[in-house]
Amino acid sequence: MSVRLRRASLDDLDAIMAIETSVFVTDAWSREGMAHELGSPDGWYLVATPDGDDTRIVGYSGLMVLPGAPDADVQTIAVLPDARRAGLGRALMGQMIAEARRRGVREVFLEVRADNPGAQRLYESLGFEGIAVRPRYYMPDGVDAVVMRLRVPPTVTRPAGGDAPVVLPETSESEPLP
Ligand SMILES: CC(C)(COP(=O)(O)OP(=O)(O)OC[C@H]1O[C@@H](n2cnc3c(N)ncnc32)[C@H](O)[C@@H]1OP(=O)(O)O)[C@@H](O)C(=O)NCCC(=O)NCCS
Repeated sequence: MSVRLRRASLDDLDAIMAIETSVFVTDAWSREGMAHELGSPDGWYLVATPDGDDTRIVGYSGLMVLPGAPDADVQTIAVLPDARRAGLGRALMGQMIAEARRRGVREVFLEVRADNPGAQRLYESLGFEGIAVRPRYYMPDGVDAVVMRLRVPPTVTRPAGGDAPVVLPETSESEPLP
């Protein structure tokens, strides 16, 4: 399946909540909470839609960055079971990190259930490392949260010929998604 990523809006709330409640069965966000995230100027949410059907959503993720803050949080990420293990989670996370970099963020944090090794592996492959455990964070299951941190690497271009590397300004990596 070929998919496209685009910025999410409040119009996507129903489709996002359908995935949220089916994927995070015991600890899904409330509709009000998700609406607040989607409407917040400090939030940056993406949805993944199959090519040719802009309204059917197969995955989403969200970042929260307070203005001028040196750190950001990946708030959530989910991909429908049928669309998993095809690189979509990695693509969504890559866009979250790229947006954090565009906003001048130095560190990105996230929390993940201790009993979710697949997601942890994805984050580790992107450079996140576990830095703390919050005991019994996920209720009602009483499952620990692993706090993970990514130190956002600067974009470095190394010219041929062994000259000194050029560090690009934060905003130059790529254009924001539509
Ligand atoms: C976690 C999640 C978003 C990953 O999405 P995805 O589209 O399947 O991820 P990708 O295909 O980009 O996977 C990239 C890599 O992450 C790792 N990974 C992802 N899911 C994994 C799993 N279930 N088991 C082991 N490794 C996994 C693998 O290294 C994978 O690379 P590979 O497929 O080449 O082996 C998806 O499984 C999901 O929605 N899960 C339920 C919700 C959830 O747990 N969200 C995270 C909350 S913190």
